[in-house]
Amino acid sequence: MVKKAVIPAAGLGTRFLPVTKAEPKEMLPIVDTPTIQYVIEEAVSAGIEDILIIIGKGKRAIEDHFDRSFELENQLQEKGETQSLEQIQKIANMANIHYIRQKQLNGLGDAIYYARQHVDDEPFAVLLGDTVISSNSHPCIGQLMQLYDRFGASIVAVEQVPRQKISRYGIIKGKAIEPRLYLLEDLVEKPKPEESPSDLAIAGRYILTPDIFDCISRTPKGRGGEIQLTDAIRLMLKYHALYAFNFEGKRYDIGNKMDYLKTIVEFALKRDEFRVEFMEYLEEIIQQKEQKP
Ligand code: UTP
Repeated sequence: MVKKAVIPAAGLGTRFLPVTKAEPKEMLPIVDTPTIQYVIEEAVSAGIEDILIIIGKGKRAIEDHFDRSFELENQLQEKGETQSLEQIQKIANMANIHYIRQKQLNGLGDAIYYARQHVDDEPFAVLLGDTVISSNSHPCIGQLMQLYDRFGASIVAVEQVPRQKISRYGIIKGKAIEPRLYLLEDLVEKPKPEESPSDLAIAGRYILTPDIFDCISRTPKGRGGEIQLTDAIRLMLKYHALYAFNFEGKRYDIGNKMDYLKTIVEFALKRDEFRVEFMEYLEEIIQQKEQKP
């Protein structure tokens, strides 16, 4: 059974400068909620209570966000703003959150390696701190956890991506064994669309068995001079069966500006208090654009 989650959030977020110069990208708000709060809510709603966040330099805001803030709580209490008070108390009580610092930014594989003592000899969930997945049914990580319970093997979440975007992602080669489920055969980092083994991209959610740590330690530096998790998983494939699951839900990668913009618009439209007025505003803008191209 998977009981712990690891959230890598140490990256510099260079694709999102200048805001990420002093602000962790994981704290970028989706309307009024930091991205990483959605990530933690996903893990918690799947039943995970123990969360390790891999942080780095300049990521203090993440720790502060999930800590108690007595000054703020007192003020809200005095003003009788009970709803806001409950909201911020809930954030601090969501889960048992632990932190560890990645000393040098040596890549996602290296970041995960920092979790080895914390997760010990247990399977664990990995949720990238800059990727939100919304789902109408079960949270994405919960879908993978159910499969772990069936197969006892590592599982990678994948999503279908349009052909023209294939070269941006890690793509899997897999053998379909059930609807949405594949036996993993290979992983290819950013292939050309015409050479790609599929259109299924790795989506920022994983269940990994502790075998990954030995594989990471044996993985040489890869793309960008960093230790890539994808390379470590490829090594793991030599010794273990791994699966890929085309989850039910939608992925929002806030690490790049265009997807971030789309995320905010979609999430705002999901909120009752904004939907009507915001939609009217968007329609107005589109009409103006059509009139003055
Ligand atoms: P990305 O490559 O998307 O994140 O890594 P980045 O390096 O922050 O972004 P850019 O490319 O400079 O804009 C995927 C995930 O792995 C984490 C990141 O925080 C992100 O959640 N990561 C990456 C680490 O924790 N440590 C690393 O050394 C690298």
